[in-house]
Amino acid sequence: MKSERYDKIFEYNRQWVESKSKNDKNYFTQFGESQSPDFLYIGCSDSRVPANTITGIEVGDLFVHRNVANIVSNNDLNVQSVIQFAVEYLEVKHIIVCGHYGCGGIKAALKQESFGLLDNWLRNIRDIYRIYYKELELITPFENKIDRLVELNVIEQCKNIIKTSYVQKSYLQKGFPTVHGWIYKTKTGELADMNVDFKKTLKEVQKVYKLE
Ligand code: CO
Repeated sequence: MKSERYDKIFEYNRQWVESKSKNDKNYFTQFGESQSPDFLYIGCSDSRVPANTITGIEVGDLFVHRNVANIVSNNDLNVQSVIQFAVEYLEVKHIIVCGHYGCGGIKAALKQESFGLLDNWLRNIRDIYRIYYKELELITPFENKIDRLVELNVIEQCKNIIKTSYVQKSYLQKGFPTVHGWIYKTKTGELADMNVDFKKTLKEVQKVYKLE
């Protein structure tokens, strides 16, 4: 059954097309042939964290992958294909992992209970929880523990991107992409750069995962 809100989406789309074309009649035709975005954004599927809206990046400049808790798993063909395509064919200059405070996926991973199929996905986060167990166990209240794991998860996912052969090879041959970790504050709308030191992290990762 269609609802009023559902129908409004198409009404909004017509208005958007009209307003974009009014300012620039070639607005859509310029995107018709191909794309050449500078950024690959990997973020959470959470409806409160819309990639283009929070960054102000317009059509054509942001290649996006989103999943629960912005995970970059080595056996996820989806995210790995996105990264390889973005690096080798689109030649993006920056890869961004964006986590957000209060993330439901991170919160679920910190709970000692089963969520069915989702357990397999949350396992990626629980593995990080295990690595930082000593630090995380000391943090109270629970909300602060969630937010710290949100940060640690972003750092670990940046490392997971750097572990891939395509990122290492491209950086060695062309000098890009570099990888960045961001946090989005859902309650204020602010973005913060965690200033992950790309060169230092690459060096650290390559002690074990040198693939270029
Ligand atoms: Co989330």
